[in-house]
Amino acid sequence: MLKGKTVVIGVTGGIAAYKSAQLVSDLVKEGCDVHVVMTKNALYFIHPITFETLTGHKCLTDTFDRNFEFNVEHVALSQRADAFLIAPASADVIGKAANGIADDMLTTMLLAADCPILLAPAMNTYMYENSIVQENLAKLRRHGFTVIEPAVGRLACRDVGKGKLPDGKTLIDSLRYAIGYEKDLMGVKVLVSAGPTAEAIDPVRYITNHSSGKMGYAIAEAAAMRGADVTLVSGPVSLTPPLYVKTVGVRSAEEMYQAISERFPSADILIMAAAVADYTPQCTADEKIKKSDGEMNLPLQRTKDILQWAGNNKTEGQFVCGFSMETEHLLENSRRKLLKKHCDMIAANSLRQSGAGFGTDTNILTLITPETAQELPLLSKSEAAHALLDAIRDSRVR
Ligand code: CTP
Repeated sequence: MLKGKTVVIGVTGGIAAYKSAQLVSDLVKEGCDVHVVMTKNALYFIHPITFETLTGHKCLTDTFDRNFEFNVEHVALSQRADAFLIAPASADVIGKAANGIADDMLTTMLLAADCPILLAPAMNTYMYENSIVQENLAKLRRHGFTVIEPAVGRLACRDVGKGKLPDGKTLIDSLRYAIGYEKDLMGVKVLVSAGPTAEAIDPVRYITNHSSGKMGYAIAEAAAMRGADVTLVSGPVSLTPPLYVKTVGVRSAEEMYQAISERFPSADILIMAAAVADYTPQCTADEKIKKSDGEMNLPLQRTKDILQWAGNNKTEGQFVCGFSMETEHLLENSRRKLLKKHCDMIAANSLRQSGAGFGTDTNILTLITPETAQELPLLSKSEAAHALLDAIRDSRVR
């Protein structure tokens, strides 16, 4: 979480500077105390008043400001900041930072900073790929700077390539990763499944369900933010893969089984948040699924129960958590699933409660272990993901 953190945003001279205003506004909405420092060239692209209005603080632009109070303040701010993010970072500021040059307010503050420093380079592709710029970035990485990879796309100079400032979510998630969470899952290997599966009937049609994948994606993202080494096996969804997560796309239950069974032996924790289709067409040959009158007559077979397979095959120290969706007898049915599938925990959803289940941004989970049942309140899926990970962390310690 970024609420209450002091973040310094460095803005340098590049066309992407106009995007920094949205970034600053979003960070203020997150509850951060945001201070903006601009280079002289950034002043050609955006006016300090924009940032001053958004942050409520004077925008720092020049070390030789005649206002003494601000002159001394910049070192204090460098020391007080929880993080420094330079977005956009020009080739010029990257070169200066890599060589310890401090000839203006921003580069002086960088040298005085005692906190994580993140850089989001944004420039023409050829400039970005220039070996001098790359060498400077490599040097900064060695000195502990985080370099946020630029996005690929159409650049202001009309070239298409790598060099765009990444979207606001990527920048803010990078800050979250750097300072937002205690790394209590550092080194823990977490395997998460998410989304629906799609079972092909023929080359055109398929059977699926309403899972949006939001809960599984929130779990993968939350685990990564807390330092875990996360692999997400995802059915077809329309969500952006979370940052710092290895995402493997699958379609059918069989493909999901293959992806999970291959990775499960080296995982510490498996969380099956996917809504795996229980049935798949037995045969996709057209002649077998259509009667002569054209009516659908679909022979079905059960899919492999992946969670059951994992529960049966787990070894000492591995933790397996399943999900259950129930319309009635939530506790009894979920506890029966827990025992039958040899899981360590079931996160149960009641489809009867509003705000819980498929498609929503919130959830109401009951966390069931062989000994306990803990009902969580209505939470955002991200909050529910963190609460689930807290419970898993605590039961692994016991
Ligand atoms: N699951 C699985 N493989 C399947 C079906 C389900 O791994 N072929 C997992 C789901 O990812 C979930 C858990 O089993 O973590 C429970 O899924 P759910 O659909 O609630 O239960 P089922 O076992 O399918 O039983 P039922 O549909 O009869 O409730």
